[in-house]
Amino acid sequence: MWEYTDKVKDHFFNPRNVGEIEDADGVGEVGSLACGDALKLMFKLDENGKIADAKFKTFGCASAIATSSVLTEMIKGMTIDEAAKVTNKDIADYLGGLPEQKMHCSVMGREALEAAIENYRTGGKKKHELEGDVVCTCFGVTENEIERVVRDNDLTTVEDVTNYCKAGGGCGGCKGEIEKIIERLQGDKLKAIAPPAPRKAGKLTNIRKIRLIQQTINEQIRPALRADGGDIELIDVEGNKVIVAFRGMCAQCKMAEFTMRDVVEAKLREFVADDLFVEEDKESAAQPHNHRK
Ligand code: FES
Repeated sequence: MWEYTDKVKDHFFNPRNVGEIEDADGVGEVGSLACGDALKLMFKLDENGKIADAKFKTFGCASAIATSSVLTEMIKGMTIDEAAKVTNKDIADYLGGLPEQKMHCSVMGREALEAAIENYRTGGKKKHELEGDVVCTCFGVTENEIERVVRDNDLTTVEDVTNYCKAGGGCGGCKGEIEKIIERLQGDKLKAIAPPAPRKAGKLTNIRKIRLIQQTINEQIRPALRADGGDIELIDVEGNKVIVAFRGMCAQCKMAEFTMRDVVEAKLREFVADDLFVEEDKESAAQPHNHRK
């Protein structure tokens, strides 16, 4: 179980400002469902140029929901210039801290805010694009973004960078490049770059694997689905095949059939084992429904 502060739990169980602003002045969208996290943040300014309202929609874990919620609270009353100075560390500090492995949620919040500000400053013309060469192709993280998290959070190991922006958390092919960036920026401060710890438990017995799958579903996947009126049930595990059923609002739609399966598979590969694949159990899926708009 992750150790969450009371403030994180409060914002997760009672998220503020969920929804859309129809005539928003700035809209920022970052992340992707395929990577397991996505966030849309929007704000409306008052006549004095201060943020009068902010709302968000997210797909992600408890920390993603809590950081998005708290960010909308933080920026209300700020001018655009003030909001542009908010760092991911400010967001995490406001929550009383986040587990290291969840710091990437605070980075996603800061990126969404920057994207919304950019969208506002360009009169809605420009969609946010990450600048710089892509270093981590698995997660689409650029050199600029890695430099930013290293500087803002004083990071010294590749593992830290993975926790803060996911870079290095897939095939691992970019770790050498990330080490070079850390060395270049941190110089003397760098004592030793620790070898990256294995992300997952070693060889799993069947019982441990099933427990870990269930735990990942409970902690990483179910909260976001429930926030949107849906649910997921683990039906069976046969070797590396994980059979699940989607319940509720998305049980019969294309989203469940393709995107949701991919999202669940990505999460299970991230937290349990690289070779898992997910199949949907159609027979036990919920009855057809009218998809909510
Ligand atoms: S390229 Fe970065 S983890 Fe695969």
